[in-house]
Amino acid sequence: MKDLERRRKELEGLLKKYDEAYYRNAKPEVSDQQYDRLRQEFDSLGSQDDMLGLFAGEEDQLGNEKRELVPVVGDDRLEEFESHIHISPMLSLDNTYDEEEFFEFNKRLCKILEKEELPYVVEPKIDGVAVSLTYEQGVLVKATTRGNGIEGDIITQNIIHIQNLPTKITSANFPSLIEIRGEIFMAHDEFNRINSERENEGLDLYANPRNLTAGTVKLLDPKEARRRKLEIVVYGLGACHPSGYFSTQSQFHHSLKVWGLPTVEFLQAVSSASGAWAAIGHLDEQRNNYSYPTDGAVIKLDSIEMQQVAGTTAKAPRWAIAYKFESERQQTLLENIIIQVGRTGTITPVACLKPVQLAGSLVSRASLHNADEISRKDVRIGDQVIVEKAGEIIPQVVEVVLSEREHSLVPFSFPSVCPECESELFKTEGETAWRCPNSLCPDQIKARIEYFASRGCMNIDHLGESVISQLVDRSLAIKLSDIYNLSKDQLLQLDGFAEKSADNLLLSIEKSKEQDLWRLICSLGIKHVGVSASKDLARVFRSLHTLAQATESDLTAIEGIGGIMAKSVISFFEDNATQDLIRFFKDQGLQVELPIADLELDLILDGKIFVLTGALSELTRDQAVEKIEALGGRVSSSVSKKTSFLVSGSSTGSKFNKAEKLNIPIISESEFYDMIQKG
Ligand code: IVH
Repeated sequence: MKDLERRRKELEGLLKKYDEAYYRNAKPEVSDQQYDRLRQEFDSLGSQDDMLGLFAGEEDQLGNEKRELVPVVGDDRLEEFESHIHISPMLSLDNTYDEEEFFEFNKRLCKILEKEELPYVVEPKIDGVAVSLTYEQGVLVKATTRGNGIEGDIITQNIIHIQNLPTKITSANFPSLIEIRGEIFMAHDEFNRINSERENEGLDLYANPRNLTAGTVKLLDPKEARRRKLEIVVYGLGACHPSGYFSTQSQFHHSLKVWGLPTVEFLQAVSSASGAWAAIGHLDEQRNNYSYPTDGAVIKLDSIEMQQVAGTTAKAPRWAIAYKFESERQQTLLENIIIQVGRTGTITPVACLKPVQLAGSLVSRASLHNADEISRKDVRIGDQVIVEKAGEIIPQVVEVVLSEREHSLVPFSFPSVCPECESELFKTEGETAWRCPNSLCPDQIKARIEYFASRGCMNIDHLGESVISQLVDRSLAIKLSDIYNLSKDQLLQLDGFAEKSADNLLLSIEKSKEQDLWRLICSLGIKHVGVSASKDLARVFRSLHTLAQATESDLTAIEGIGGIMAKSVISFFEDNATQDLIRFFKDQGLQVELPIADLELDLILDGKIFVLTGALSELTRDQAVEKIEALGGRVSSSVSKKTSFLVSGSSTGSKFNKAEKLNIPIISESEFYDMIQKG
């Protein structure tokens, strides 16, 4: 008994810790499967204090009795957000990973409902961040997170820009008050784009799109949230007034579609559990074609009346269950652990694996995150390890197969000095990564030059990883400025270089001198300063020289630039080497200030928000965005009340219709050019 109680306490502590990591910090410490196993064990030990208190007698705005506030799911609420009590609580779902359990779920329900067979719907389980949308008289008045299931954070400002999210529904038969439940998610391309920007900025990477989505909906700066493309899909019904609106889940799904809400594309209605089982298999085959990540199927009783009879337990409805698909895992040999040194000196351990086929690709490298992770998992070179793609993309070492460990293997000793330059590594308080302190470490130099030349920065063609590596190893390039002093003779010494390739590289280096000021600022690699901050800095300070003189308050006066970034900018420009570099760039003819023409144009579009729709014939979308931003305007992906102009290449489409409805000025392509050329 005592042992059980001890285990219960231990599990409670672990679950609390993992909940905190997952919900509040958006950084999971264990896989979903590991978490579910612990949760199941905890539940089976008969927890004492995780029950939802029953109704306390009060009524909510729909006249339902209110529940007492005893949370049963994790808690994502943050102090900085205003919170809102859900009219109908946002419960969790019971999970199963096996067929037998699924049929037991059906048996239980058949018994409760005294039926032989039951009608179900099978839907994808979307691996995103749960959201509740409250519409009053057809207007989206609030979007909230799940919070603790009872009360969530209001995140309307961070998701209102989502392109396919209707903010007003005019359909005559729309209920006067409805809570619609769904999931916010991010497409893989967008996830990769943001993570590579963060990598460039020397920031921690997000483990998977779900965590990045969770982080984005909780940003304190809605402007930053708007820069990240979130998407939404809805599937569930919370409170609804008048009640009795829908008789089945399939009918509700159909209404969502008619009202123009983005719903799941797979909803299969079946008349029995075996029909549902077949649909689950079918869904597993289809799910990779969907735009959202799915980690399972949700099987729900189709009849809402039956749902009400079945009722809910403390934490989940009895009328639904999630069948989780196992994420693919493979076992392979850990051949080596190598240590990578990043641009800002961050040390990252990487697992070199015996190549193995995993979820559609051949994997030979996997992340080991940091020293703490290696010792926590006790990963040793020569171990058999289990690898999994986190969020189905980045391969990770999940665990070691201890039963197959050979006696001779020794614990991995994390280096105390940089493997490249042998400087002693250091760790800043609060950070998990070790760093190499030597800014002249060859690996750091290579990473800095790679970043400078990368597509998002100076975009120097033909200056890739292997060329840079040779240039640094031969001491032909140490400082960024050295790139502009390279001679043809020097290039001809490099492996694989001949007349033509040397000329091509010199030409792209020369061409890079024309790159815009914001690109130059970005390519300097100032910690925390990425593309969007660089654009803001270029627009406000207009030259590297003025930026170098900026004070902390000048910098923090810019929306989106906080104290940490401001300090980083100041300390970067205080360095004498930076001053030399700016002078050098100026002498070489790089764009260290905005051209005079731009000064005259000035910010004629200051504060204006543009939405672009349809193709433009003279500019690419990126060029149009660049022009608008250079003149102080901003481009948004969706039309709202705040939109100043819709630039429309055609007179149809949802953006066009919405702009018309909201009386937003719609301008043609040529009117747009007139507008931007006036400056
Ligand atoms: S229905 C009363 N349907 O998964 C709870 N949930 O792990 C009904 N989820 O809390 C939820 N896809 O946030 C439902 N098709 C789907 C879903 C889904 C994802 C989320 C939801 C839920 C969580 C449980």
